[in-house]
Amino acid sequence: MPASDPWWQHTVVYQIYPRSFADADGDGIGDLVGVIAKLDYLAELGVETLWLSPFYASPQADFGYDISDYRAVAPEYGDMDACDRLIAEAHRRGLRVVLDLVLNHTSDQHPWFIESRSSRDNPKRDWYVWRDGARPGGGVPPNNWFNMIGSRGWHYDRATDQWYWSQFLPFQPDLNYRNPEVRAEMLATIRFWMAKGADGFRLDIVNALFEDAEFRDNPFAWKLLPSAEDPGMLFRGTENTLNHPDTLAFMRELRRVVDDFAGGDRFMVGEVIATADEARAFCGDAGDGLHLIFLFESLGVPLTAPAVRALIERYETLFAAPLLPTWVFGNHDRRRRIARLDGSLEKAKLNAAWQLTARGVPFLYNGEEIGIEQHHLPVRTSLDAVVDRFRSWPQPLFDLVCRLAGESLNRDECRTPMQWSDEPNAGFCPRGVAPWLPVTPSYRERNVATQQLDPDSLWHCYRRFLAARRQCAALNAGALELLPASDLPATVVGYVRRAAPGAEPRAVIVLLNCGDAATDVNLPARATPWVSTRARLPEVGADRVRLRPWEGLVLTLGETGVPDLR
Ligand code: NOJ
Repeated sequence: MPASDPWWQHTVVYQIYPRSFADADGDGIGDLVGVIAKLDYLAELGVETLWLSPFYASPQADFGYDISDYRAVAPEYGDMDACDRLIAEAHRRGLRVVLDLVLNHTSDQHPWFIESRSSRDNPKRDWYVWRDGARPGGGVPPNNWFNMIGSRGWHYDRATDQWYWSQFLPFQPDLNYRNPEVRAEMLATIRFWMAKGADGFRLDIVNALFEDAEFRDNPFAWKLLPSAEDPGMLFRGTENTLNHPDTLAFMRELRRVVDDFAGGDRFMVGEVIATADEARAFCGDAGDGLHLIFLFESLGVPLTAPAVRALIERYETLFAAPLLPTWVFGNHDRRRRIARLDGSLEKAKLNAAWQLTARGVPFLYNGEEIGIEQHHLPVRTSLDAVVDRFRSWPQPLFDLVCRLAGESLNRDECRTPMQWSDEPNAGFCPRGVAPWLPVTPSYRERNVATQQLDPDSLWHCYRRFLAARRQCAALNAGALELLPASDLPATVVGYVRRAAPGAEPRAVIVLLNCGDAATDVNLPARATPWVSTRARLPEVGADRVRLRPWEGLVLTLGETGVPDLR
């Protein structure tokens, strides 16, 4: 039975991209022993849950999102012993571990697919989605379906004269969830990792599991380009390939499996490429689906008071309690948030203050805490060097569409190595070794060691807000009430977070100044500054406080004392 006050509702998740985090064995690729070596760092920073991108056996054509064995560790990342130690060591420090599960597809090098494609009557044939073409001979695919990145999702297999379906890249064939053997196998995989101590799962493109059973064409849609949340494009909808009712039903089955395991305290967060309204359905009408859904509208939202307020309002409406929104500003696929904030560390601090004080579960992406930049790798010179094979259309067109959508052509740019120090290779791997991707040029200033020495750094700002959030029930579990815009200066967003009776402090007020100028805010009640994006707290008068440019501030409300942040 699930607990009444589950830990995942008030946690903060930190995403580790293992390939880029810390290289312990000196081959230029991050590994699990490297992560173990950094657990003290993560505990000191103050995050509570670690999500590790896939480290399973894989040909690494999509860096682990193409799995060839769900129960083995890729040798470049270590072995099962290292994985067991990582989970145990994380738990010893009170950190939770969330694993990444790619249920939708395997690698085309997975033994299941190798068998499946070997002949039409192989017992594994029906583990994948195979279909006759509209005409024999490979000229015409079975129907008009595009994959979620806008190219034809059907791939012809000459040997058996059939097409297989793939929602992502051609080397990632979709598993057939209409086959009960597939469902049973994947549920067993989930139990396997729970038995190993995994506290939860991040489910990759989980809204793509089932397709229309009759393989009907997708209908026309008035939509040329995809957006962050809606992959419909090229005037074609996704009704028959995404968000299928059978996928929603399967979410409930997943939930039962997870809730029934041991203490029932594991959780799942789904990557659902859909609008926030559609995504909410994955939580189940009765809250009996996935625990959390990634919400991606935040990725590109401008850091202006009206935009911030509108997004908070929208999530408060759509994900009203008992549902919870998530706050996601970056990941291993998307342009780094700081690149959308003009590279400004002050704006990044304010963004962190927002992310860590709003109602919902924050997901941090490794390197955000020190402001690692998007490493712009110029297309013309870098194409040969680009290692990410994510591409769908001819290069110039793909580039143009990405730029129009405010995204990067090249996911390498947001996956560069973590910057630990100002040593060569930023301390990610030994000097003299070539890291798998180059470190960003600003690593000499933007690194952990340097920022730890400066109380006014972005790193210390994250640490203060993480500590405040952890200690304060109003921040990690309280209700949120937006202050009316008419009571605040034009650049300021304000909200009160209020905990259930008994918590101390019972309520806090959060003020975010999304502007270049200092501004005075009238306080609605007696309040004491508690934590700021700046190291030094501002002076507060009897009923007003002066916010500095881009300052985020939490004040405790009422007569209660100020909790010590250390
Ligand atoms: C989403 C993952 O975040 C991305 O990195 C991956 O390439 C695709 N799903 C396919 O698994």
